[in-house]
Amino acid sequence: MANIHNSLPQKEKAKALAAKKALEDFVFDDFVVGIGTGSTIKYFIKALSELVAQDELEIITVPSSFETHLELARSGLSVSTLVEFPELDTYVDSADIVTEDYVLIKGGGGALTMEKIMAKAAKEFIIIIDDSKYPQDLLSHHVPIEILPLAVNTVVEPIYNLGGEFKLRYVKGKIGPVTSDNGNVLGDINFNQYYNPKEIEMALNNIPGVIENGIFTLDIHRLIIGKPDSVEVIDRPSSQSIKEQ
Ligand code: 5RP
Repeated sequence: MANIHNSLPQKEKAKALAAKKALEDFVFDDFVVGIGTGSTIKYFIKALSELVAQDELEIITVPSSFETHLELARSGLSVSTLVEFPELDTYVDSADIVTEDYVLIKGGGGALTMEKIMAKAAKEFIIIIDDSKYPQDLLSHHVPIEILPLAVNTVVEPIYNLGGEFKLRYVKGKIGPVTSDNGNVLGDINFNQYYNPKEIEMALNNIPGVIENGIFTLDIHRLIIGKPDSVEVIDRPSSQSIKEQ
């Protein structure tokens, strides 16, 4: 039988390998597994559903977005929420970029708020990426942000005062700015000068009307970097557990 992996473009192969590694080495029976959002995570869901269908793994999943929920349900996986499971054994997600100091920029898919909540709720936070995303410069990616709809104009000046230029997010096929699964408005901020990620992450969230932003400075436990034919795991044992024991 043809190996599907061989027919994938290089970047997709890299994503698939990172996803497989996370699943094989860090997901165990009876785990409650938080599942991120995006094209890399789709490979994780596919591999997960195959293992579960073969009775080789029994887990409960908690999705970080409606799209991921749909994928999990279509794949026949058992789905729950943070209401039933406020503590996740592990949370596997991807990122838009990862800096050399392991700061993540997330939210390209618009799921940043749930993603940050889930990362905080997890005993282990694992990031899977292809090798084009690490290490990347902090300024190489805009910062996604979720805003309460009636605050879209009041946040502009405070964001500007922090050094950022705020733009609403628009896409083809939708009239008006993109909204999140939570019914809020999504935007993106461009910073032209280096900023302190921890300070700006907090300062943005202090602006009235900002729900969450896509700078993730919380500790990740593992970074799994897929390359077309190999995979690298960076363990961060010195990092504090996300959920203090
Ligand atoms: C969604 C995210 C995703 O993790 C990020 O956009 C990466 O997606 P992809 O795997 O498609 O590159 O933060 O909100």
